[in-house]
Amino acid sequence: MQRLCAIALVISGCVSGTDGDLPTDDYHGNSAPTTIFTGPSATGSPFFASLGTNGRSCGSCHVADEGWTVTPTGIESRFDATNGTDPIFRTNDGSVSPNADVSSVSKRKTAYAMLLSKGLIRIGLPIPAGAEFTLAAVDDPYNFASATQLSLFRRPLPSTNLGFLSAIMWDGREPSLGNQAIDATLGHAQATGTQQSQMDAIVAFESSIFTAQALDPSAGRLDLSGGNGGPDELSDTSFYIGINDPIGKNPTGAPFNPNAFTLYDAWGRYPGNGAPGRARAAIYRGQQLFNTLPISITGVAGLNDVLGVTTLQGTCTTCHDTPNVGNHSVAMALNIGIADASRRTPDMPLYTLKNIATGATVQTTDPGKALITGKWADIGKFKGPILRGVGLRAPYFHNGSQPTLDDVVDFYDTRFGLGLSSQQHSDLVAFLEAL
Ligand code: HEC
Ligand code: HEC
Repeated sequence: MQRLCAIALVISGCVSGTDGDLPTDDYHGNSAPTTIFTGPSATGSPFFASLGTNGRSCGSCHVADEGWTVTPTGIESRFDATNGTDPIFRTNDGSVSPNADVSSVSKRKTAYAMLLSKGLIRIGLPIPAGAEFTLAAVDDPYNFASATQLSLFRRPLPSTNLGFLSAIMWDGREPSLGNQAIDATLGHAQATGTQQSQMDAIVAFESSIFTAQALDPSAGRLDLSGGNGGPDELSDTSFYIGINDPIGKNPTGAPFNPNAFTLYDAWGRYPGNGAPGRARAAIYRGQQLFNTLPISITGVAGLNDVLGVTTLQGTCTTCHDTPNVGNHSVAMALNIGIADASRRTPDMPLYTLKNIATGATVQTTDPGKALITGKWADIGKFKGPILRGVGLRAPYFHNGSQPTLDDVVDFYDTRFGLGLSSQQHSDLVAFLEAL
């Protein structure tokens, strides 16, 4: 496979300050690129061109240096540089409501608060026709959401490592990357139409980029000294739908292996000396915890109910099973409770859904897959995203509710009663940071 390192690529046709900025690390020095390009050049790609009417490109919300999504720090500096007029700041889906007042800098700060604080875009989706439920009540702090358009505040998913996807979008609603590119151009960029050749070029570009953490401040290069981290190794990682599936969906019939991550096996044997050696040993221990720490999985819709088991004895890799990648290898949306009413923060809308057949009600900040299928059982279900490069793209979960990976580990510790020691906690974080 031919590889191009990202050395100070200059993008033509950039629509705004940060849109085309790519990692400029020196591959051969003490640092390493987090992204490699194995296909069409970024230069001149329609991925970075304004194809609609509001100045946005795909690159407005998918920035290489921010793990191919956007982070609050990057968004804030764009706000400051442009007084909140950079193309990411548009009311169709960048503000808390399409009716938000954006007539002054301070009003724009308020209007784009969700974007600035947590990097959240407002996805507007209706209750689908024929749904098993109705929208019984809406508590929207921004006075906009209704059954014809719920406001769902979601993190942009990374537009990289796409060859490993088993489902596209948090709720799996897009059937293909080609269709996704059309919908994104018509929706986010407010285009009036699309050109197939440009859509094809976008898909060819985004499908040939690979992103992973390449350097750890203490351990050093993650692809040296026996480590198999970094984007170059990732681009050689094999994948097919169902690989290493734990519930019998592997088409080869091969049994599930919970040791789904093997990137840092060598560091278990020879971590090396001094501070780098101690950091490598911690990353290895974190990998082994991710593979083997027993988790009693209960109350996860999409898993416990589907398998008919109250408690499933598993590990992190029961759900994050794709070897050395970390998403689920078949489309399997799960409800681990992120959108539960109990975790609602005051900046999020809260929806009360009522089951037409039973009269039961449930409250959620985002119905997830249920808005696509109309099924009651799918409320609150989201896909587990690819975990490579996860350290580059805080905050976490579909609603950006956890500011750091430390907070994510805290969430799991509480949600599943893991009782982690402080060393187990920091080892898990060290491993996640090294993905
Ligand atoms: C205004 C911000 C914005 C713009 C502009 C934008 N996206 Fe996205 N992108 C998002 C958000 C938000 C999501 C997740 C939405 C969801 O799942 O409901 C997403 C999801 C994706 C995904 C899904 C990845 C996965 O893991 O499922 C791909 C691929 C993608 N975008 C590519 C593109 C392309 C190609 C363009 C340009 C045509 C584009 N995006 C423009 C915000 C944006
Ligand atoms: C029962 C299935 C399940 C288990 C077990 C599980 N996860 Fe997850 N994980 C998910 C799902 C589903 C999501 C996405 C949830 C959402 O955003 O609504 C997720 C998201 C994440 C994310 C955030 C990714 C991002 O881009 O925002 C991280 C990090 C993560 N998991 C790490 C872990 C670790 C570490 C463990 C073990 C301690 C673990 N997971 C165990 C299902 C699981």
